Amino acid sequence: MPAPHGATPPRGPWRGVVEEFRRDLSLPAGAPAISLREGDTPLVPALRAGRGADLHFKIEGQNPTGSFKDRGMAVAVSGAVAEGARFLVCASTGNTSASAAAYAARAGLPALLAVPAGDGAVARGKLAQALAFGARLVLVRGNFDQALAAVRALANARPDAALVNSVNPLRLEGQKTGAFEVVAQLGDAPDWLCIPVGNAGNISAYWRGFCEYRQSGRARRVPRLLGAQAAGAAPLVSGQPVEHPETLASAIRIGRPASAHLARAAVAEADGRFLAVTDAAILEAYTFLARQEGLFCEPASAAALAGFWAAREAGLIIEGQRVVCVLTGNGLKDPERAIAQAAAPLEAEADPAALAAALPAELRD
Ligand code: F0G
Repeated sequence: MPAPHGATPPRGPWRGVVEEFRRDLSLPAGAPAISLREGDTPLVPALRAGRGADLHFKIEGQNPTGSFKDRGMAVAVSGAVAEGARFLVCASTGNTSASAAAYAARAGLPALLAVPAGDGAVARGKLAQALAFGARLVLVRGNFDQALAAVRALANARPDAALVNSVNPLRLEGQKTGAFEVVAQLGDAPDWLCIPVGNAGNISAYWRGFCEYRQSGRARRVPRLLGAQAAGAAPLVSGQPVEHPETLASAIRIGRPASAHLARAAVAEADGRFLAVTDAAILEAYTFLARQEGLFCEPASAAALAGFWAAREAGLIIEGQRVVCVLTGNGLKDPERAIAQAAAPLEAEADPAALAAALPAELRD
């Protein structure tokens, strides 16, 4: 599929989103690029999940810390360094904190990370990342929404802090580059973009990216937006904050999305929808992606496919339409979920016959 303005010129090694997209980002002039070469993630066509649509997956789990957050974090931390911040702070359900910890290490700054305490509140791989990168990790007695309120108040009182949650406008600036890449990869915007929604920053960022590319003539159109929320944490579907959000997709267990206003405006302009998907539907999409598409994402990411299937079923997305599902985070983030969803592995002697007995029935002699 040719790009709107002809073939993409040959390019050198990918330099990360700050340097690749600097002229399209509102970063302070002269800001350094704090980069781990994030972005440039693959767009993989669906083989079996498409249900008659032309479905593609944007594999954001291939970013340096395994989620889309790295796009926004690179830009936010570059801005923080330009402004002389002395430390980074954020609240997180796990991915923002993993990314903040990595970019803080890269920038040589301390990071203070507030995540909800409790079993299953944050997937283990994400905790491991924050700890490995040497951040100060605080397990907050409360949910994500409460942790975010606390770090916002702390950052307000501390001019030397850089708050790197998506309420920081540079986060959305960075994350809009996902939309730029989708347009470059498809030659134009798709008919629909399906994306999981938690704190509602990413859907807002994608919308900004698509609008800017249409404005500048680099895309002919913008997509319709489908924002997928977990049924137990779906304030944008119900129109009400959720006091006690609940879903196994812990990344999007959020009851008061900080960017709700932006996401609502985006979905209205895009003639889009917010849809709630049950945990059962999320798990079905999660296992299907891994077993039928070879794509291992985390449960929150699978909500995008569950949302697509629901919209396809409802006739909102129709046969032949081109659709991109954003798979926001890598499956390795949440190894416990993967293991819980699968049959227990077999154990056998180190013996060829014992191994062969483990083959599927039709392959045994
Ligand atoms: N998918 C994953 C894997 C996420 O980690 C998040 C958000 C989302 C989707 C939703 O994106 O918040 O911009 O609507 N994770 C945040 C965090 C809240 O702290 O890591 P959103």
